[in-house]
Amino acid sequence: MLPELERFSSSLTIDYELYPYDIAGSIAHARGLAAAGVVSRSRLIAIERGLRRIKSELDEGDFKFKPSDEDIHTAVERRLTEITPAGAALHAGRSRNDQVALDLRLYCRDAAVEAIALEARVISALASKAVTHAAWLMPGYTHLQHAQPVTVGHHLLAHAEPLLRDVERFRHAYDAAGEMPLGSGALAGSTLPLDRRVVARELGLEVLTQNSMDAVSDRDFALDLAFACVAASIHLSRLGEDVVLWASSEFGFVRLVDEIATGSSLMPQKKNPDIAELLRGRAGRSIGALVALATVLKGLPLAYDRDLQEDKPALFTAVENILDSLGAAALMVEHLEFDRERLAAAAADPGLVATDAAEELVRSGVAFRQAHEIVGRQVRDGKFAAPWPAKASLARRDLPGAPNPRRVAARARALRREAAGLSRWAERHPPALPS
Ligand code: ARG
Repeated sequence: MLPELERFSSSLTIDYELYPYDIAGSIAHARGLAAAGVVSRSRLIAIERGLRRIKSELDEGDFKFKPSDEDIHTAVERRLTEITPAGAALHAGRSRNDQVALDLRLYCRDAAVEAIALEARVISALASKAVTHAAWLMPGYTHLQHAQPVTVGHHLLAHAEPLLRDVERFRHAYDAAGEMPLGSGALAGSTLPLDRRVVARELGLEVLTQNSMDAVSDRDFALDLAFACVAASIHLSRLGEDVVLWASSEFGFVRLVDEIATGSSLMPQKKNPDIAELLRGRAGRSIGALVALATVLKGLPLAYDRDLQEDKPALFTAVENILDSLGAAALMVEHLEFDRERLAAAAADPGLVATDAAEELVRSGVAFRQAHEIVGRQVRDGKFAAPWPAKASLARRDLPGAPNPRRVAARARALRREAAGLSRWAERHPPALPS
């Protein structure tokens, strides 16, 4: 190929990141070849030793890439054959098509585990703040207009619940990536008696892909992970937006401490909620990446096409973006400082309990539509008297899921326990490298 076109087609700068998975996959494949009697015991030992040496060269930054290394798979195999002549036996029954499908699946599993660990951190941070602010009054909004009383804790937990759903999506992405594609070859398997089960077991994967053509062209697991990243980044953008509003001079609900704010280079009085704004803005990266990935896959003929190489820049962008954003969100939440007086002053708006007054009439037998009409007229005529303060309203709002401070505190503690369980789950699922 023309040198200019080699540069165009090379993916090394991107798929370099796959090297731990590429080496894990190669060790598992080599063991599979040995189990099938295709590669001798002594060759297997030489190949494994060589691959481990390459791993440490790459870990240490000592690995010398060559211009002919088109991608991470060719680079590792080229180096292996330099280290041992046995390296030439490794690629039997394997193609880069099933190789990259495996590597990407292993990458997705690790990424999903990391995302879950970080989601747990943000959930835990929100829940801890919610425990201490379970009874702090604030106005709840619809259409960004004062609506009914809630508490800071309840509002914070309204951002934690979506993150718990994100965790389910990342778990699904983790499971979806768990099928083992090696043995599919370029697209039609192999004539060699490969033992796919041995390979799968080596990698901690229980399920084998069931169609060799699908296995090399399927990127649904990457779409699942990218979508999990998108949903999570949308949630963080909404949390970011609320913090931006709360930190504004008009609301003043949150004091921006120096740890999570910057000053203006020009205006001496300013403090800016940059982190919250970036959580809002960064969602664009994930959403763009999902669209890019879906566009690569759309209309692609079976089985493998080189277009599929473009899955990685998109997926890696979505993953790096969400891992970064979750880490930043955890720190932001941990440093949130609320202004109890400003919140209470805003929650003193009698309009917040206008619905309570209407519901009091309902209790005495008035139909709700009429009660709504009566209280509405009182508010319009300036004759509305709050039946009770917001605090009393919250005590009465005691349905499951409602902002009663006792319920908020209980849910906050439950979420904290849930988050701790998720961190433990993540610790029990470290990167799968054959020992
Ligand atoms: N770099 C390629 C990718 O990421 C690896 C597979 C190449 N296969 C091929 N037949 N050219 O998709």
